[in-house]
Amino acid sequence: MTVALIWAQGNDRAIGRDNTIPWRVPEDARHFRDLTRGHRVVMGRRTWDSLPERFRPLPDRVNVVLTTDRTWSSPGAVVAHDLPEALGGDETVMVMGGSQIYDAAMTFADVLHVTEIDVDVDGADAHAPEINPSRWVATTHGEWQESTSGLRYRFLDYRARPDAPTATPPTS
Ligand SMILES: NC(=O)c1ccc[n+]([C@@H]2O[C@H](COP(=O)([O-])OP(=O)(O)OC[C@H]3O[C@@H](n4cnc5c(N)ncnc54)[C@H](OP(=O)(O)O)[C@@H]3O)[C@@H](O)[C@H]2O)c1
Repeated sequence: MTVALIWAQGNDRAIGRDNTIPWRVPEDARHFRDLTRGHRVVMGRRTWDSLPERFRPLPDRVNVVLTTDRTWSSPGAVVAHDLPEALGGDETVMVMGGSQIYDAAMTFADVLHVTEIDVDVDGADAHAPEINPSRWVATTHGEWQESTSGLRYRFLDYRARPDAPTATPPTS
């Protein structure tokens, strides 16, 4: 199994404010769609709630939603109550946030797909994990590009260093 985390971060690792993503970069939305299509995606209940109803479940993907609430359900969501159950046994599972779920999944991650967006987010209340260079090596270091939104963005991929400790996802 490969555990990949995918996120877009503004300056200072901001990823959200008031349970929304505080920018719109269509090129990143396409990138996200291309990388996640056909895979299991894992998200926290708050991120599920943040998706407009007409966009969920995300098509062509199994949408797994983590919640501690045993009574929670939502049309199109596959509910999981702990991370091992959520990650499942797929070849590649894509963890798509938010910050609580990235923090929990980081120790199991093999790959990170990070979009950097050159934007300051006042009042950000959700942040991406830190990428420690002793554990992660960049495999793609894209050039800055300009979005049709006017914001600059670039794509980075990281792979866990072979000698770095990566936890094996426990089985539930
Ligand atoms: N920029 C990006 O790439 C990106 C991507 C995704 C999300 N976001 C943003 O991130 C923010 C949301 O992040 P967040 O950290 O507030 O919420 P979150 O991680 O999306 O969801 C948190 C919820 O997940 C459940 N949960 C967390 N850990 C769990 C565990 N170990 N077992 C079972 N359930 C667990 C809990 O749900 P219950 O309360 O139901 O128990 C918890 O309240 C929003 O602003 C969103 O727009 C940004």
